[in-house]
Amino acid sequence: MQVLRVTGGARLAGEVQVVGAKNSVLKLLAATLLAPGQTTISNLPAISDVTIMHELLLRLGCDVAETSDAMIDSVAVNVPECPASEAPYELVRQIRGSINLLGPLLTRTGRAKVAMPGGDAIGSRPLDLHISGLERMGADIRIEHGYIIAESGGLRGAQIWLDFPSVGATENILTAAVLAKGTTVIDNAAREPEIVDLCHMLLSMGAQIGGVGSSTLEINGVDSLHPTTHRAVADRIVAGTWAFAAVATRGDIHVRGANAGHLEIALDKLARAGADVEVLADGFRVRSIDRPKSFDVVTLPYPGLPTDLQPSAIALLAVADGTAMITENLFEARFMFCDEIARMGADVRTDGHHAVVRGKERLSGAPVRATDIRAGVGLVIAGLVADGVTEISEVHHIDRGYVQLEEQLRGLGADVVRIESATFGG
Ligand code: EPU
Repeated sequence: MQVLRVTGGARLAGEVQVVGAKNSVLKLLAATLLAPGQTTISNLPAISDVTIMHELLLRLGCDVAETSDAMIDSVAVNVPECPASEAPYELVRQIRGSINLLGPLLTRTGRAKVAMPGGDAIGSRPLDLHISGLERMGADIRIEHGYIIAESGGLRGAQIWLDFPSVGATENILTAAVLAKGTTVIDNAAREPEIVDLCHMLLSMGAQIGGVGSSTLEINGVDSLHPTTHRAVADRIVAGTWAFAAVATRGDIHVRGANAGHLEIALDKLARAGADVEVLADGFRVRSIDRPKSFDVVTLPYPGLPTDLQPSAIALLAVADGTAMITENLFEARFMFCDEIARMGADVRTDGHHAVVRGKERLSGAPVRATDIRAGVGLVIAGLVADGVTEISEVHHIDRGYVQLEEQLRGLGADVVRIESATFGG
C-alpha cells in the first residue's frame, strides 16, 4: 500500500500550475456522446478518474486517443453513430461522475443502462432529482439488479423545478434536454463554473441554451449536435486547496492557471484571516506571514464556499488563532475527516452538521487515513503544519483529484514522499 509521508514545518513558497477541473472534465467527456464524430477536449488533468471515464467511453464503443505530458492530457473521443448503452458497475462504482452518462445516452440512443454508483464515504448521495427530472421529460426509468434503466421513444421538453440545486441532476437534465423535442426549463439549477463550462461546450456543439450561469436554464432542443473542440475550465477546488495550504503554512504561493473569480468567498475568508490575496492575470497569489485568524465556514452550492474545500479549511483552522464554527450543508459524512485530524491533536468537535474548531499553535504528526479525495488533501495540509511525521494511507483517494501533488509540494519546499508500506494501516 502506498502512503504519503509528510514531515511538517515547511513554509510553502513558489508557483504551482492548476489544470482542468475533474468535476468538469468527467461531464465534458460524457457529453461527447451527444454528437457522432470526433470531439477533442484539452486541459484534462492526468488523474485516475479521467482514466476510468476513458474506459467507460471505450466500453460504449468510442475510440479514445490521448496525448499527454506529465500533468495535462488532451483527448480525442471518436463517437460512433450508435453508441452502446450500458455503463457497467465495476467502472461506475469507482467514479460518481459516471452517472453523467445517463442524460447523453438516453437522449442520443433512447436507452441508458447505468449502474447505480452505490455508497460513498462522504454521505448518502441519492439520485431522485436526476430521475424525476428525466421522467418529466418522458423517460421511463426503473431500477433493476443494481442498474438504472432509462428508456424513451423521444424525450420532450418540460418545466423542471429542482428541490435543491444539484450539480449532477442539473447536468443530466441539461445534457438530455439539448436533443429533446421542445423547450426545457430547469429552475433552481446549479450554477457551478463546471456547469457553465459544460454549457459552453454544448453551445459550441450547436445546442441552444439560455440563462447560462444563472439558476434558470432554458434549453431549446435541436435535432442533432456536431463535434467540437473544447478546453476545460481550471479546477477551482485544486486552486482553493493551494490557497488554504499557503495560509496554513504561512507561505507564499502563486497559483497559475486559476480563476480567482470562481473562489471569491474562499479568498475573502483568507483575506479576513490576515492573508494578502492578489489577483493576477494568470491566476492569483496568496501570502501570509502571521498565524491566521479563525473564521466561520458555511458550505453551500456555488457561489457559496464549496463543500470540497471544507477539509482544507478545517486543517487551516486547526492551527488558527481563535475558534471557528463550520456548517456542512451538503454531505453529512464529510466530518469523518474530523476524526482523522483529531488523531493529530486538532481540537475539533462535531454535532450533526456543525463542527467547532478551536485553533492550536501546532498539530502533531500521526498515522492517518484518507477517507476521500478532499479529506486526503486536508490531511496533507494538516501534516505540513504538524510537528514530526504524518503518514497518510489510502493515497489512491488523493490521486483521483490531484495531479502530481507531492511533486508540486516538493517544488514549494515541502518534505513529502510517497512510500510503499506493507504494514501501515493494519
Ligand atoms: N441530492 C439529492 N438528490 C439528488 C441529487 C443530489 O438529494 O438527486 C443532494 C445530495 O445528497 C447532496 C446535495 O444534493 O446533499 C448536493 O449534491 P450534488 O448533486 O450537487 O452533488 P454531485 O453532483 O453528486 C458534485 C461533485 C462533488 C461536489 C458536489 C457539490 C462531481 C463528480 N462531484 O457531486 O465533488 O462535492 O457536486 O459541489 O461533480 C469531489 O470532487 O470530491 C466531490 C465530492
